Order: sequence, then C-alpha cells, then structure tokens
Amino acid sequence: MENSFHGRTLTALSATGQKKYQKGFGPLTPGFKHVSYGDINAAADVISKKTAAVMVEPVQGEGGVIMPPTGYLKDLKKLCQENNILLIFDEVQTGFGRTGRMFGSQTFKVTPDITALAKGIAGGFPMGAILASREVGNAFQPSNHAATFGGNPLACAAAKASIQVILNEDLLSKSRENGDYFKSKLNYLKDDHGIVEDVRGSGLMLGMELDINCAEMVDEMRSLGILINCTADKVLRFVPPLVIEKDQIDIVTCNLDDLLQKYSESTS
Ligand SMILES: Cc1ncc(COP(=O)(O)O)c(C=O)c1O
Repeated sequence: MENSFHGRTLTALSATGQKKYQKGFGPLTPGFKHVSYGDINAAADVISKKTAAVMVEPVQGEGGVIMPPTGYLKDLKKLCQENNILLIFDEVQTGFGRTGRMFGSQTFKVTPDITALAKGIAGGFPMGAILASREVGNAFQPSNHAATFGGNPLACAAAKASIQVILNEDLLSKSRENGDYFKSKLNYLKDDHGIVEDVRGSGLMLGMELDINCAEMVDEMRSLGILINCTADKVLRFVPPLVIEKDQIDIVTCNLDDLLQKYSESTS
C-alpha cells in the first residue's frame, strides 16, 4: 500500500510504499504495485493473473496511525478470495495486544492467510515470526528458510513468557480500557488546542495529528522522561507498554497539554 512500512530488509523495503525509506538501497526487488490504502477499487484495478498476494498493515503505523476505513479489510479479504490470491497482514506493529485484541485481525475481524509478527512478540527481546494457514504453511518445510539466529530457543522462551503475561495479566482488556481512556484524554486536548487536527487509533496504538511538524515535541517530551514519537512528520504516535496505568497516562497528557499550549502560542 502507499504510505506503508514493512521494514528495511531488501524485499520488505521494496514492499514499503514510501520512497524516503528506499532512497540509496536499490536495486529493489521488483514486482510490487502500490495503491492507496483504504481504496478497495484501486486494489481491484491492479490485480492481474500474476498477482500472488495483497499485503497490508491492519493499521498503518509508520504512515501516521492510519485506521482502515470501515469494511476495508473485509473487502480486501473478499477481493483476494475471489481472485484466488493470498492476504498478508503485517502485524509487526499491531500484533500482541497493541490494538486491543491479541492481533489486529481480531480487532477488525478478518483472518488473513499469512501474518508477519515481531516487536511485542517477545516483550522487547529480538524475535520475528510468520503465521500461516495450514494450507499456505505447508509450502514451507523445516529448514527451507533458515537463518543464523532463526529458531532461537532463548527468543522463543521470552516470547512464551511474554504471551503468558499478556494473557495472565489480562493486558488485552487493559489495552482496550486504558486505550479508550488515553484517547478520550487526547480528544480533550484536541478540543482545547487548535493545532490538533485529529485523534485516532485503536487500543494502545494512538495518533494525534497536528498542523505543525512534531519532531521537536518528541525531543521535549523525552527531556521530561516521556517517550513518544513523530511519524509522517505531523503525527504524534503513542504506543506505550501494555502495562501502562491511568496515572501514567495522566502524566503524559498533562505534559502534552503544556507543550501544545507552548507550540500554539509560538505558531499564532
Ligand atoms: C508494520 C511494520 N512492519 C515491519 C516493521 C519493521 O520490522 P523490523 O524492523 O523488525 O524489520 C515495522 C517497524 O516499525 C513495522 O511497523
């Protein structure tokens, strides 16, 4: 999809629909067509007999926390089924409770054929994984695709422990509950500050779009001990640990309130 981000290994970079990340890394893997995220007709238009799969982030993360329009992911699934092609969800960012359910596919109630996972899978310990339906997964046999650190037992133990904590401590409900709380607080800030254009997201994957560049605000928040980031130039992204508590969310939004005030005054 245009505006997507799938990582910096060469073929993932080729699938990424943002030229700024590809600069200096050619030649890229050929064969990818990028269409506007959210536009089902644009996807239908580029599908041909040679199309193998459609790959999509359930919520575009690096692209600026862009939510799928209602029904879009279901329509993509239908389009794939009708054309006998695979649907791949890149859940590297949306996976493991981020959007309020274990996977974005559950938040949006669409089952892909293949899912890419990383980030939250092992609570910060480096690991990535691919899930596939049995039929698709059968195309791979053990050792078909190996890597020096692939199948790492320590990473697998860390993933098992992380997943147990997510389930035992009910972090999926917390992601939904605290995500809603966080989002409501961000919406209050939107009401109070004209430079805030939009607040969006699901669970604990939230974005606040401003009408100014937000890179400097990230630095200022960091100096206060608060880690947030700025994607797509103008979108503050909040992807806190799933264990975040409401009083910690209050600290973030309280400091953000002051900062938005400061930036509103300097731009007016
Ligand atoms: C949706 C998505 N896919 C892939 C990646 C890249 O993952 P990695 O750095 O593990 O290749 C990211 C990183 O931000 C991401 O957000």
